[in-house]
Amino acid sequence: MKGVVLAGGVGSRLSPLTRVTNKHLLPIFDKPMIYYPIQTLVDAGIRDILIVTGGRNAGDFLRLLANGKEFGLRYLNYAYQEGEGGIAEALALAEPFAEHDSVCVILGDNIIEGSIRKAVENFTEQGKGAKVLLKEVTDAERFGVAEIRGSNIVGIEEKPKHPKSNYAVTGIYLYDSSVFRKCRSLEPSARGELEITDVNNAYIREGTMTYEFLEGWWTDAGTFESLRRATNLVAGSAERSTQGD
Ligand code: G1P
Repeated sequence: MKGVVLAGGVGSRLSPLTRVTNKHLLPIFDKPMIYYPIQTLVDAGIRDILIVTGGRNAGDFLRLLANGKEFGLRYLNYAYQEGEGGIAEALALAEPFAEHDSVCVILGDNIIEGSIRKAVENFTEQGKGAKVLLKEVTDAERFGVAEIRGSNIVGIEEKPKHPKSNYAVTGIYLYDSSVFRKCRSLEPSARGELEITDVNNAYIREGTMTYEFLEGWWTDAGTFESLRRATNLVAGSAERSTQGD
C-alpha cells in the first residue's frame, strides 16, 4: 500500500493567510499542517509517500520536508498539480507512483486524533474496491455525506443542503488501482472540479465500497473556524499527553 497526501489548491477560504503561502504550510499548534497527515500515514505503517502540491509555493514543501527524515522516512516523492482541477485531478497524478498498488489517500488538511492502521489492514484484507472513513458531525452540509442503509453505503452527496445523515466522509480514502481509471472517466462538477465524491460513487455503483467509522476526533482545517478548531484539538491532545492521561 502506498500513501498519497493531497496538498494543492489555492486555499481561497483562508485568504489572506494563503495569499503568499500554501494552506498546508500554515501552522496547526506547533507544526505545519501537512505534518499531521504525513504522520497519520506513517503511523499506519505506510512508508512510500507521495506529496501532490501546486501553486507558487510548491518549492517550499521540498525545503520543509526534504526526504522525510523527521518522520523516519528515507525518501519522499513529489508531484506538481498544474491548475485547480480538484481533488480527483490531483489524485490522478499519483498513477505512475502507485504502480498498480493500492493507495491510501489523505487530504492535506485532515487531522485526526487516532490511528487508521486497523482500517488500512482491513482494506488490505478486503483486497479490492475502496473504503471510506466516516465521522458523525453536526455540520454535515460542509462535507461529502454518506447515505447508509443497513450495513451498506448506498450513496454520497457532496455538500448537500439537506444532508441525508450526519455521517461526513472524511478526507481519508483507501482505493485499489482501478481508482485511476475512475478518475479519468469523470466529468467536471458544477464548480468546475473533478470531485472525489464522484470517484467514491463509482465504487458504490460497482458494489465494492465499504466504510468504517473513525475513532477519536477528526477535523479539516480549510476555513478560519476549522483552522482554529484544529489548533485547539491538537493543543488539547498535546496538553493531555504531557499530563500523562
Ligand atoms: C473535501 C471533499 C468532501 C470531504 C472533505 C473532507 O471537501 O470534497 O467530500 O468531506 O474534503 O475534508 P473540501 O475540503 O474540498 O471542501
